[in-house]
Amino acid sequence: MKAIRIHQYGGPDVLSYEDVAIAEPKTGETRVRIEAIGLNFIDIYQRTGLYPLQTPFTLGMEGAGIVDAVGEGVTEVKVGDRVAYAMILGSYAEYAIVPATKLAILPANIDAKSAVALMLQGMTAHYLTHSTYELKKRDIALVHAAAGGVGLLLIQIAKMRGARVIGTVGTEAKAQLALQAGADEVIVYTQSDFLAEVKKLTEGKGVHVVYDSVGATTFDKSLDCLRPRGYLVLFGQSSGPVAPLDPGKLAAKGSLFLTRPTLAHYLLDRHELTQRANDLFNWKANGKLKLRIESTLALHDAAQAHRLLEGRKTTGKVVLVP
Ligand SMILES: NC(=O)c1ccc[n+]([C@@H]2O[C@H](COP(=O)([O-])OP(=O)(O)OC[C@H]3O[C@@H](n4cnc5c(N)ncnc54)[C@H](OP(=O)(O)O)[C@@H]3O)[C@@H](O)[C@H]2O)c1
Repeated sequence: MKAIRIHQYGGPDVLSYEDVAIAEPKTGETRVRIEAIGLNFIDIYQRTGLYPLQTPFTLGMEGAGIVDAVGEGVTEVKVGDRVAYAMILGSYAEYAIVPATKLAILPANIDAKSAVALMLQGMTAHYLTHSTYELKKRDIALVHAAAGGVGLLLIQIAKMRGARVIGTVGTEAKAQLALQAGADEVIVYTQSDFLAEVKKLTEGKGVHVVYDSVGATTFDKSLDCLRPRGYLVLFGQSSGPVAPLDPGKLAAKGSLFLTRPTLAHYLLDRHELTQRANDLFNWKANGKLKLRIESTLALHDAAQAHRLLEGRKTTGKVVLVP
């Protein structure tokens, strides 16, 4: 089969499109014939070595397709089931080996491309708003990179919970997308100071929670956007990692809470996985959640997809097809 392999860390040019043997599923595992692959920012962290992995490896943390073979003891799915998954390495390929317990079974009305637009980024938006900081009616949430893959979903789910959402984005065009997704106010943080704007929009009080996936360039001001006892949910670093922090700063700035969550710890068992996935599938089916699949590229063009994503040129979801 064809797959995108990494032999050494580096820029998009290290993505190598090559022939790889098709593996057999072991006990508890399945083999999925991949129909759609989700592009995610974590793919860039893994490509560059910011999140180090043993090389060589097949990139990709999200896929959807059809169960093609099952190993011994698999009871959760059978051959022929339509499935999707997130946070299992190796989806930039025609086939992937996935533990059966990590698969969500797709309802008939969710196609493979929608599934990969929902799984990793959607379950992230779900746990951030329901579990990490449980958004309440009239809470004010600041969402950075609001027109991105996670961002557009996070806005919509936060609005379902009754929060007021302030988004930040890099361009005017992205601001329009964030507003269409339901953001109450949007700040173009490449043109104006988001801290000053947030203070203005909240009569100097600040927000209850900041969902910050940008990291290095936003972190300090994100802390200053919070009201006393506010939550800084740092869930990514698209602009680079955040410098170490003296916990005393959290006291000085208002007894703040800081957490650095990751999706794997919010999918601890099969129940948690199916609950989050099914909420997303239902919201998509009943029109509460709109997906923006901005572009679909062939798997062999993965390097181009990476250039677009890390160059801040994408909005919503980018899908790869083998
Ligand atoms: N912890 C978790 O569980 C988890 C799970 C999924 C994703 N994430 C994180 O969530 C973030 C969003 O992921 P995504 O896949 O949906 O990507 P994305 O938001 O579609 O793309 C990243 C966006 O970050 C913004 N950005 C700001 N400064 C940047 C810079 N210097 N370089 C590149 N981008 C920059 C850009 O939007 P603007 O131009 O509008 O600034 C860009 O479009 C990532 O940080 C990712 O690691 C975390």
